[in-house]
Amino acid sequence: MSKVEIFEKERASNYNQFVEDWIPNYSYFMEKLPKLLSDTDNKDLLVVGCGTGNEIVQFAKADQDWKITGVDPSPEMINQAKERLAKHENIKLIEGLVSDLSQDRKYGAVTLLLVLHFLEDNGQKLDLLRQIAQRLKTEAPLVMLDITGDQKQMKTNLKVLKQLLPNNLDKDLLQNRLQRIENDLHYVPEERLMELCQEASFERPIRFFQTSIYMGWITWKK
Ligand SMILES: C[S@@+](CC[C@H](N)C(=O)[O-])C[C@H]1O[C@@H](n2cnc3c(N)ncnc32)[C@H](O)[C@@H]1O
Repeated sequence: MSKVEIFEKERASNYNQFVEDWIPNYSYFMEKLPKLLSDTDNKDLLVVGCGTGNEIVQFAKADQDWKITGVDPSPEMINQAKERLAKHENIKLIEGLVSDLSQDRKYGAVTLLLVLHFLEDNGQKLDLLRQIAQRLKTEAPLVMLDITGDQKQMKTNLKVLKQLLPNNLDKDLLQNRLQRIENDLHYVPEERLMELCQEASFERPIRFFQTSIYMGWITWKK
């Protein structure tokens, strides 16, 4: 059974403001995402951990003929996505896990944004990457955004993040959140993320984006 990080109550209802505050350049990354995948021939897109639908909204706006399947285990998150995206016939939103999806359908591209760092590196990360790989066509791109780095990188990049945060954040909340990132989230060094992807039948991923502790990666199914 896959590990699930459930987002509920304030964490779900405040999510969109939270990411704007806490991830410098989040909007830029999201806006450019469809451009990054625009030369993908097979427009059957799987959005894993789609949350409130932030990445799907961008693909829906992009006018690139995507057929989109979003999957997320948190009811309060995916219900927000359903409300936002109700009018789009090319978007299907499923409350559940990748393992709930049939392996008969092979997608042409996949995104996994801000999910992997919630899963421990005890088989859970590898399991999710493998579940995804089993549902992809050969050469399909996988784009990830994840908190990545070794402990030294994390300390330095958390200082950078602190400097970039909005001035009006509550001081106690800010301190708690920084400590939670450093001590409770399951970020891994860049080399380890590369190993995990390769073990799960992806090419060695390329880091194409970074904003403080958050790194953007692209790889392709072997
Ligand atoms: C930080 S949010 C990211 C949402 C969206 N991708 C974005 O960038 O705005 C993390 C999401 O991952 C979902 N999640 C947690 N465990 C998961 C799992 N094992 N597989 C897929 N999604 C998961 C949560 O329900 C939550 O909606």
